[in-house]
Amino acid sequence: MSSSADTRKVVLITGCSQGGIGHSLSRKYAEANCIVYATARRVHAMAGLPEAGVRTLQLDVTNAEEIQSVVQTVISEQGRIDVLVNNAGICMCSPVLDQDLNEARRLFDTNVWGALALTQAVAPHMCRRRSGCVVNMGSITPLAHIPWHATYGAAKAALHHYSDTLRRELAPFNVNVSLVVAGFIQSEIVQKSIDTIGLKDDSLYKPRENYIAQTIELAHHLHATSTDVFAQGLVKKTLCANPPYAYYTARLSTAYWVMEFLPRSVVDWGITFGLDTYGEIRRGELPASKLIGFVLFLAAIVGLIAWATL
Ligand SMILES: NC(=O)c1ccc[n+]([C@@H]2O[C@H](COP(=O)([O-])OP(=O)(O)OC[C@H]3O[C@@H](n4cnc5c(N)ncnc54)[C@H](OP(=O)(O)O)[C@@H]3O)[C@@H](O)[C@H]2O)c1
Repeated sequence: MSSSADTRKVVLITGCSQGGIGHSLSRKYAEANCIVYATARRVHAMAGLPEAGVRTLQLDVTNAEEIQSVVQTVISEQGRIDVLVNNAGICMCSPVLDQDLNEARRLFDTNVWGALALTQAVAPHMCRRRSGCVVNMGSITPLAHIPWHATYGAAKAALHHYSDTLRRELAPFNVNVSLVVAGFIQSEIVQKSIDTIGLKDDSLYKPRENYIAQTIELAHHLHATSTDVFAQGLVKKTLCANPPYAYYTARLSTAYWVMEFLPRSVVDWGITFGLDTYGEIRRGELPASKLIGFVLFLAAIVGLIAWATL
């Protein structure tokens, strides 16, 4: 066990494979002088972290025995966990009518029940010490109901709800819960998502298969925030004395926050128009009249963002 005089924060993070957010978070917490335990399903996927002073452990968040073992290891070595980051997650992109329900259940097992199981294993230690912070990786997706992302968005919506309630339940024990409402970040998630489209043979959406892939790719073309820039900001926010409850961060998170205050019909039109227009631009088929509409649409979004951030 580390000495009680060691005041460095002990951080446990899930889903830390190279190329993703967890990997950057692990390095940034270590640079901020924390004792970091990075976990992933495959230890070899966390290349580079041991060299950065990060300890690595195997953890599949859907495996109850592995959760108990990892938490026990950290507690026995350090005596505490100050920050738990529930980062592990998978995405799934396909029309609701084509959804493989077993895959949908697997997504909920990872993104919702995995995060809750970790929290149930770690938070009691924090409550007994009257100190700690649980960070849940949410998303802007539940705010906008983006086509093809229903299962992912529904799981994130569930995580948002659990976070909000948990925040109130843990407050009496002086344990914080922070929800990260993240916009678009460059990671491995987009390519993995395209691989999950899997339309049924008789799918109503078969003629639009390429279009679906293009709209998912859109995230890549929006100059998504780099994982390092995102991680730098999040580490700073979660190590301060009063971590924010809901932290809107990364590309387009402010625009999605603004959408929450707009009528549903306006948001529906904006999303459909934006996705259709993007596809037409990629195929070089954008008519001049729509181009003008597109420019006006972008100007309106920029205006809203400016209004929201001033
Ligand atoms: N990138 C974005 O734009 C964005 C936006 C909002 C929120 N998020 C959220 O941020 C988190 C990290 O995503 P990312 O963008 O960094 O994607 P990523 O590069 O695909 O990383 C996801 C990580 O989660 C791990 N994982 C998946 N299933 C797991 C399981 N059962 N147990 C343990 N680990 C598991 C993956 O491991 P493997 O390598 O073994 O698959 C990987 O390490 C996710 O919760 C995601 O929903 C991302």
